[in-house]
Amino acid sequence: MAEDKLFSEFTIRNTKFKNRIGLAAMTRTSSPGDSIPRKDVLDFLVRRAQKDVGVVFTEAVLTDYESAQGYPRQSRMVTQRQVDAWRPVVRAIQDAGSVAILQMFHCGRVAWPEINPAGRIISPSPVAPQQNNPLTGKPYPVPDEMSLLDIDHVIQGFVETARGAVAAGFDGVEIHGAHGYLINSFLSSYSNKRTDAYGGSVQNRFRFAREIIRAVRPVVPDERLLSFRISNWGVADMKVPLFEKDEWRAIISYLDEEPVDVISVSTLNYSDSAFGTSQNMAQLTRGETGKPLMICGRIYDRATADDALADADFVLSAKSLLLNPDWVDDIRNNRELEPRPPEDANVAYTDEPLL
Ligand SMILES: Cc1cc2nc3c(=O)[nH]c(=O)nc-3n(C[C@H](O)[C@H](O)[C@H](O)COP(=O)(O)O)c2cc1C
Repeated sequence: MAEDKLFSEFTIRNTKFKNRIGLAAMTRTSSPGDSIPRKDVLDFLVRRAQKDVGVVFTEAVLTDYESAQGYPRQSRMVTQRQVDAWRPVVRAIQDAGSVAILQMFHCGRVAWPEINPAGRIISPSPVAPQQNNPLTGKPYPVPDEMSLLDIDHVIQGFVETARGAVAAGFDGVEIHGAHGYLINSFLSSYSNKRTDAYGGSVQNRFRFAREIIRAVRPVVPDERLLSFRISNWGVADMKVPLFEKDEWRAIISYLDEEPVDVISVSTLNYSDSAFGTSQNMAQLTRGETGKPLMICGRIYDRATADDALADADFVLSAKSLLLNPDWVDDIRNNRELEPRPPEDANVAYTDEPLL
């Protein structure tokens, strides 16, 4: 019988994954003033590990105390209390045989002043998102163009958060370069109109991401992992393709040269054609890199998981795992499952503890 790839082990550096199934990062907006998530939200991550998810990504964790915040009640990882709160959670995920990765996030232009402690929104260029903010019903404000001082400060935020994650025992950290948030908005010419070294050519637009990667890597011990998440879509500009095919390929080839261990591609539907080609995003990305590849987007049953995994090393699920604690078992037993509609995600933001 052919090997069951989905339930086969995989090793990156010294980190062993028991299978190829991951819990995608999910923001839960549950942290009060101390920026530590609610206990039931932390317990949820542990339960998914205990239910056989091979790798658990945390919610998007803010990289600084002023401009990184895009949603209410997000978490941070820079104080000793925050590190101490996460340490037993990380240990419990690892005791369950899973890998724990913390996702680091700066919202960039997808923010509004009331929830931003410094009341200031920053971005590569003063270009506001097209859509209204779903939480306020109002347009997003036009962001300030980042100065070189701002750029340095934000990079330091990623470094400090990575240090916090390492102190809390995480197996790795992920740089959130997807979904139209700060790093993604530097990469795309749609939101990056700069004329300095951080704008213009794809290589210049990649500079900010590269500087973050190179600043973060030295604080992540050799045996632990650095992942980079990327997408061709943004939450506040859903109608805008952020890249052209050759830009995407160039960015992936630049990432391939950097000291990242994993490239994680986020799609709306993994099987969609990439840039009008006959390939999907995983296939197109695979053409530019031999690095371990994670793919996410509407993977909801055994058939979609196997199909998505044909061109990647891991499949990640958000909504299916959010609502179904037995999802891995259901996949293993090839149970009939349905894709989750977008409104199912709303439960993530309520006070309701999830199974
Ligand atoms: C409630 C919720 C919160 C999310 N928060 C994050 C996040 O913090 N970071 C991130 O990279 N993606 C986030 N996403 C996107 C998911 O990781 C994933 O890419 C997307 O939901 C598609 O996967 P799915 O079809 O399995 O739901 C979130 C999705 C949901 C449903």
